[in-house]
Amino acid sequence: MLEKQMEFIRSKTNFIPDTALILGSGLGDLADEIEAQCIIDYNDIPDFPVSTAPSHKGKFVFGRLNNKNVVIMQGRVHLYEGYSPYEIALPIRLMKKMGAKTLFLTNAAGGIGDNLNVGDFMVITDHISTFVPSPLIGKNDDDLGVRFPDMSEVYSKKLNDKIFTVANRLNIDIKKGTYIQFTGPNFETPAEIKMAKLLGADAVGMSTAIEAQAARHCGFDVCAVSVISNLACGISKEPISSEEVEETAKKIAPIFKKLVTKSIEEF
Ligand code: HPA
Repeated sequence: MLEKQMEFIRSKTNFIPDTALILGSGLGDLADEIEAQCIIDYNDIPDFPVSTAPSHKGKFVFGRLNNKNVVIMQGRVHLYEGYSPYEIALPIRLMKKMGAKTLFLTNAAGGIGDNLNVGDFMVITDHISTFVPSPLIGKNDDDLGVRFPDMSEVYSKKLNDKIFTVANRLNIDIKKGTYIQFTGPNFETPAEIKMAKLLGADAVGMSTAIEAQAARHCGFDVCAVSVISNLACGISKEPISSEEVEETAKKIAPIFKKLVTKSIEEF
């Protein structure tokens, strides 16, 4: 399937990205900032999973961001949309085949850690993916990666250091922590968040851990930043809504864009 999709992409563009960037809920506007050399709608790619989530546009945007060639996924696909872990891995593998070596993941996440507030940025230093299926289940494609990939440093320390340096330079306050993924689409219960906290999680979301696993398997250097769009259930006294998640993400989008673009320049 990957070969057919790659053939389709190459029939549209010869662009070779250095960095791949996946934009999360409410953060998709960043893709409109770059001068796009080519845009490909997921709908047009043969057998490609199409985003159905609110505010996820569903396009690959190819363009130049500062000194780097970037492919941006404006909108991702999630388990809760009914896609298999394999289908979620597909776009990541495709961006690797296009030539990208570094993957920058972004998301909106619920804050669990005591030091996290709404509107904060959190560099993901590790994750807990135990509650979602691995995207590597099934026959291994040895051309992509090994059967039993090591996960001791999913998120590159080297890239994280660069993000911290850039944040410092821009006077952006930035935290770090462990991300836990659940399937969604329902938000968690207070008991689940209590459990997640006991397990050592600082932020919770529905997307990034399995993407990072798929990316490490095929050899990407990976980094990820969460925007804390709300406090997780039970930590917040108010019910959580997707509107709140998107509103926060939109509000901090201008600073977020700066952080992401300047970091990519340093990679
Ligand atoms: N839980 C899960 N996913 C999320 C949340 C949350 O509180 N906020 C944004 N994405």
